[in-house]
Amino acid sequence: MEKDVIIRTENVKKRYVTGEEVLWALKGITLDIYRGEFISIMGPSGSGKSTFFNQIGALDFPTEGRVLFEGQSIFDMTESQQAWFRCNRIGYIFQTFNLIQVMSALQNVTLPMTFQGVSPEEAEKRGIAILEKVGLGHRIHHKPFELSGGQCQRVAVARALANTPSVILADEPTGNLDTKTGTEIIDLLKQLNVESGVTVICSTHDPKMLRSSDRICWMLDGQLDKISTGAEFSLESMKQDTQGR
Ligand SMILES: Nc1ncnc2c1ncn2[C@@H]1O[C@H](COP(=O)(O)OP(=O)(O)O)[C@@H](O)[C@H]1O
Ligand SMILES: [Mg+2]
Repeated sequence: MEKDVIIRTENVKKRYVTGEEVLWALKGITLDIYRGEFISIMGPSGSGKSTFFNQIGALDFPTEGRVLFEGQSIFDMTESQQAWFRCNRIGYIFQTFNLIQVMSALQNVTLPMTFQGVSPEEAEKRGIAILEKVGLGHRIHHKPFELSGGQCQRVAVARALANTPSVILADEPTGNLDTKTGTEIIDLLKQLNVESGVTVICSTHDPKMLRSSDRICWMLDGQLDKISTGAEFSLESMKQDTQGR
């Protein structure tokens, strides 16, 4: 059976110009991402992961090449289509959580629904259900400063789910968390991926986070170095563990 491509990047290049300096942060990335998969973008700091995420999520546009969402070029959408796309089709999760500090967990989660025109009563009902799903039913009225890092990231995951997106883009979601909490967040994303079929694209530079992935894209210096599967990776790291002993 032909796999269903949800996002296709075609020879995506990104150039940054800072004063005299010209840097090609992405040097031509061609990648098909399939609906329902859990895909990790792995690479050292500075390899272009965030830049790539920004292109996929329409937060920025390539210098060359195209990003297609369900076959449609995001760049060629009208501005209002792009805004609708960002609000409804993609859920964003960032390393630093990016929550609104003066709002409760529940208000952070219902805000994107309000932008979409959902009534306050309905938004609250849905917001509570999502917070329960991410294990925060007992913390809905807490503000970010009253929550741990892991709990803040759970709120961010809940917010990303607010408008039932097709894709969750998580840029180093565990970068500010300890290993145990980080693993819990990855497990949560994996659970959502399996249960609701949402496509998850997750960047990391922690190899321990890769075992949940269907596929791993290894980035190096703005290029896609290789693609492997989570199973291949687990096998390899098991071999290395035994050799190391
Ligand atoms: N807005 C920007 N202007 C200029 N250079 C940038 C900008 N954003 C990122 N870069 C550079 O592009 C490269 C890739 O950065 P980034 O995508 O943030 O990598 P990663 O997320 O893998 O750490 C780095 O060399 C970084 O310094
Ligand atoms: Mg980054």
